[in-house]
Amino acid sequence: MTVTPADIMIQEVAPRDGLQIEAKWVETSEKIRLINSLSAIGFSRIEVSSFVSSAAVPSLRDAAEVFAGIERRPGTIYTALIPNRKGAELALAARADELNFVMSASETHNRANMNMTPGQSLASLAEIVKPAHAGALINATVATAFGCPFEGAQPFERVLDIVKRYLDLDVDGITLADTTGMANPNQVSQLVAEVLLLVPAGKLTLHFHNTRGLGLVNVLAAYDTGARRFDAALGGLGGCPFAPGATGNVCTEDLVNLCHEIGLRTGLDLQRLIDLSFGLPGLVGHEVPGQVAKAGRPLDLHPIPERLRHSG
Ligand code: COA
Ligand code: ZN
Repeated sequence: MTVTPADIMIQEVAPRDGLQIEAKWVETSEKIRLINSLSAIGFSRIEVSSFVSSAAVPSLRDAAEVFAGIERRPGTIYTALIPNRKGAELALAARADELNFVMSASETHNRANMNMTPGQSLASLAEIVKPAHAGALINATVATAFGCPFEGAQPFERVLDIVKRYLDLDVDGITLADTTGMANPNQVSQLVAEVLLLVPAGKLTLHFHNTRGLGLVNVLAAYDTGARRFDAALGGLGGCPFAPGATGNVCTEDLVNLCHEIGLRTGLDLQRLIDLSFGLPGLVGHEVPGQVAKAGRPLDLHPIPERLRHSG
């Protein structure tokens, strides 16, 4: 297998984070086609779907069928989000390469999202880790790590404590998620610096939402602090259905464009991402927030206006 060199790892979450909040039902075959197209572009990790209560997130109730239908590109990790033991069992049965366990730093958001206290969530992760490790990797996410829409800012100590508990449980990777785009670059630099003392950069993912327009700025702040892995969603789709005011993830093609403009290799082809992003409004039934797909690549120059061509 040829490995494309990359300075920054961009992980695609549109099929899960992107579609979980959509009101329009996206057919299973269309989800599979989207994931296969993302695989062909060469992502190292794609979050495919989630094994959660179908009453909680009806739009992803076909997770097992989606996993069964996708082509598995060697070199891509196909991830399933899980909240509990049942989710882990279903994800393993579906042959997910990685289980992404989620709980929130904020007790209120964890109750709203998972109907569990953080303590109950951690107890459920402790049960899952050993059996799951027989068949898959385990990533563990701290949701609302940079702020909660109900409680506001979360103390760093609380986030660091959850990170330490995850490490004690021997997870393979950790994600800090800014579930509703409350992070700012100063806070990101400070928290990421602290977390990188505990977790090597190769195991740490940052997951930003662009809810207040700070998504890319926060990525840069985290990158400058030493983080190297970032979630993003094609078209800037995304959002947590149990967080008021949630909106899309950092947009994949906008982030890839930023990286290429400042000389960071992503291993991803921007034009192919833009072409794929063009199909999203038809898929979800509305415009999507991504900007580069609308504007085009910076070097896709426009013809000089006729009246200027003959002057001077
Ligand atoms: N996958 C599929 N079904 C599940 C499940 C899972 N991981 N966990 C529980 N269920 C089912 C149960 O079997 C039960 O089904 P039934 O009503 O047909 O008997 C039903 O869901 C309720 O189960 P219960 O254990 O009482 O869960 P709950 O109602 O307390 O909900 C969660 C807890 C965690 C299952 C639910 O809150 C959830 O799925 N949250 C995920 C939210 C999410 O995905 N947010 C966005 C991503 S961060
Ligand atoms: Zn998210």
